Amino acid sequence: MVILNNNHKNGGRPRFDTGLYAHVAGWGMAVPENVLTNEDIEAFLETSDEWIRTRTGIRERRIAGERESTASLGLRAAQQALEVADILPVELDMVIVATSTPEHIFPSTASLIQDQLGASRAGAFDLSAACSGFVYAVDMAAQAIRSGSIETALVVGAETMTRVMDWQDRSTSILFGDGAGAIVLKSSEIEGGVLSAVLRSDGSGCDLLGIPTVGSQDVLLSPEMSQNGHLKMHKMFMHGSEVFKFATRVIGDSILEALDKAGLTLDDVDLIVPHQANDRILQSAARALKVDKDLFMSNVERYGNTSAASIPIALCEALEQGRVEDGDVLVFVGFGGGLTWASMVVQWGVPDEDMQTHRFSKQRRKLSYIGARWRSRAIRTRRNLNETIDRIRPGGGRLKRLRHKADQHEDFD
Ligand code: UT7
Repeated sequence: MVILNNNHKNGGRPRFDTGLYAHVAGWGMAVPENVLTNEDIEAFLETSDEWIRTRTGIRERRIAGERESTASLGLRAAQQALEVADILPVELDMVIVATSTPEHIFPSTASLIQDQLGASRAGAFDLSAACSGFVYAVDMAAQAIRSGSIETALVVGAETMTRVMDWQDRSTSILFGDGAGAIVLKSSEIEGGVLSAVLRSDGSGCDLLGIPTVGSQDVLLSPEMSQNGHLKMHKMFMHGSEVFKFATRVIGDSILEALDKAGLTLDDVDLIVPHQANDRILQSAARALKVDKDLFMSNVERYGNTSAASIPIALCEALEQGRVEDGDVLVFVGFGGGLTWASMVVQWGVPDEDMQTHRFSKQRRKLSYIGARWRSRAIRTRRNLNETIDRIRPGGGRLKRLRHKADQHEDFD
């Protein structure tokens, strides 16, 4: 257990005016079963397992199946996180999904997950900050908790990156994979949890990494570019070496700044959970910070770059491997499109007295998910029925009774 030092210029670790802290109370991850190895890619791209492994550290990545999507992966990760936190969906006040591959421009993927969970008291929105998105989203949720405005939040990082790959572009398509991770944040008066965050952006790097979509000025101004392969609608482009240089430049400073804000130093850190983009980036960051590379959690070998999902997935695996204990100081660091980058210091563990005593069984949560599905369907069916009734015969006698019945049906919820 780390004793947090008290020598910060603001007089030690942060104390928040409300006396409230945002603790991580649950976590979960979901990855598709389908594995795409480097050897599989060799079969259709001019590349090699050797090149991919030595330049990136990646051996394989997961690919979403036909029936999987950003929301379905996010939902599975969220359900696990709720299980660990032992809370019911109705207790959630906020759902944030960090993603660059949402189901739609709107409605948000967060709204879909909120609905499928049955989190009927929660607000929901997506957050777009590319591979830094998860850290941004956790900070938004933690701030809302510490202000006293909400008590419980679900933060999901979910991506189906393989669907925005240009599979003819060997410099990007070998890097990315699909998956999701989630955490539940809870309010507590006990010190700890999210201690600090540093969020940054430099939009002058907008031409280095991105996915053009509807409303894109680039595509509207130069349709020929989108046709000749440089910019493709809904496909990712990246200038890898520039992004590599940017990443190695910002990671170290960003971590040190977040630690300083938390009144801590590198010596206090038990584990750094970075965005998983390239193992060489982590080696370079470790060298710059003069720390052992093992201080950085790395699982890029098995999942590739899952953008906003990579930090929560790496966190879940670090927990599974027993690399995180109560009281440990963790640093999350993300970097990517925007350009954006972000670091966050988290003191792990919710003290026992603050933990729920398993008031809710697995069964009650399962019933809640089934109920949510039926409720959502019933509402849509009623709405469609009402529309049909209005179209056929506004004010009709028998049909009016039907509508009344349908409205009563809705009241069951
Ligand atoms: O999550 C968001 C943040 N993203 C990142 O952090 C990614 C950062 N960038 C990187 O990880 C690396 O820049 C890459 C892995 C994308 C590329 O590695 P690199 O060492 O920077 O290679 P490069 O782009 O400078 O290309 C070197 C050579 C080129 O050939 P020439 O021009 O030297 O003949 C490329 O055409 O490697 C070639 N190349 C490939 N060769 C075999 C590029 N991609 C491949 C490939 N297989 N897949």
